Amino acid sequence: MRTQVAIIGGGPSGLLLSQLLHLRGISSVVLERKTKDYVLGRIRAGVLEQGLVRLMEEANVAGRMHREGFVHDGTLVAYGDEMFHVDFKAHTGSGVMLYGQTELTRDLYEAREKAGGELIFNVEDVEIAGANTDCPQVHYRVGDRIHQLNCDFVAGCDGFHGVSRRTIPTDQKREYEKVYPFGWLGILSETPPVNDELIYSNSERGFALCSMRNASLSRYYIQCSLSDRPEDWTDHAFWDELKRRIPAEQAEAIVMGPSIEKSIAPLRSFVCEPMRWGRLFLCGDAAHIVPPTGAKGLNTAASDVQYLYTGLRRFYEDGDMEGLDSYSAKALARVWKAERFSWWFSSLMHRYPDQSMFDHKMQIAELEFLRSSDAAQKAMAENYVGLPY
Ligand code: APR
Ligand code: PHB
Repeated sequence: MRTQVAIIGGGPSGLLLSQLLHLRGISSVVLERKTKDYVLGRIRAGVLEQGLVRLMEEANVAGRMHREGFVHDGTLVAYGDEMFHVDFKAHTGSGVMLYGQTELTRDLYEAREKAGGELIFNVEDVEIAGANTDCPQVHYRVGDRIHQLNCDFVAGCDGFHGVSRRTIPTDQKREYEKVYPFGWLGILSETPPVNDELIYSNSERGFALCSMRNASLSRYYIQCSLSDRPEDWTDHAFWDELKRRIPAEQAEAIVMGPSIEKSIAPLRSFVCEPMRWGRLFLCGDAAHIVPPTGAKGLNTAASDVQYLYTGLRRFYEDGDMEGLDSYSAKALARVWKAERFSWWFSSLMHRYPDQSMFDHKMQIAELEFLRSSDAAQKAMAENYVGLPY
């Protein structure tokens, strides 16, 4: 089998790239290890920057997002019983789009299927060969049949645990990592959100976040210990802890209900440099991870997709390698800024096990500075709505 771009991974990065390429007449095959239902069963963040909204429009998959998503022009930041508003629109001229990653992925699958796109599920033993030659191949197995896909380029969109990054020889890459000493316990509940906007809360008892998917579906998180398991937390214990971590007025307004999903995610910052080896290009979570505070994961994947898509177009339309040659440097320049913002916001909002009273006072002083300084709010807003690409 032959295609122009072999895409490993059918998450949002791989699907968006394949849809954009298709609209420019560039062929691709998407190889996904799991089933479609499995991919769509993963609950992830749901805040889209304008850049991703534009990419969805360019990919002709923005209809439902515009109908069912919600534009948020700002966010609330709380500490103790204090709470203030950061107005993204006033500071930057734009807001963000609340639309679940699961829904975005569903829209992309639908578009790819409608266009007859080649999506192969349940692939196992994926191996990338000849990535540093002009004719790479991807070997994989479905059931007991072995296949070989010949291609011009390989897009490694296979997430943090994928095979693509591992294909780059150790002496050709450098990895940077920070693991945080806590996790996030999240629940979905079919209850109206406590507020029209998100609330990020720094409390004595640890971080909490009040988010949402729509007017009758809420998403809440609390910082938890890395040794906790979701089954250790009853719904009652979760609601009780959440209410203790947000200002009293908000706690009273919370509508509780049974959780329909409950999971724990660890927090990690990670970057692999470079994001390219020969004709293999890493994209999204395959190359970098951010802690979820600020919801930069999917958005940073989207800027990679934009740079890679532009580079591939230039190659196929003008025979020009320049966009592909500069892909890694361009993508990484933006990735590191998103890493910085996610690290800063995480450091500001969480309780660390070894945190001293001085460290705590520093967080409060920074929150009070953010509350009172237009310049600080503008810097936060600029990062939250997304740096340009
Ligand atoms: N072969 C084929 N597919 C694989 C392999 C493999 N060896 N390893 C992993 N995959 C698949 C996974 O099953 C998954 O569906 O690759 C996909 C990667 O998807 P994501 O992990 O969602 O990564 P990405 O598409 O880059 O999405 C960006 O942003 O908000 C964050 O982590 C969040 O998923 C989100 C990400
Ligand atoms: C979410 O709604 O899941 C969400 C929102 C904002 C974040 C992280 C997660 O910063």
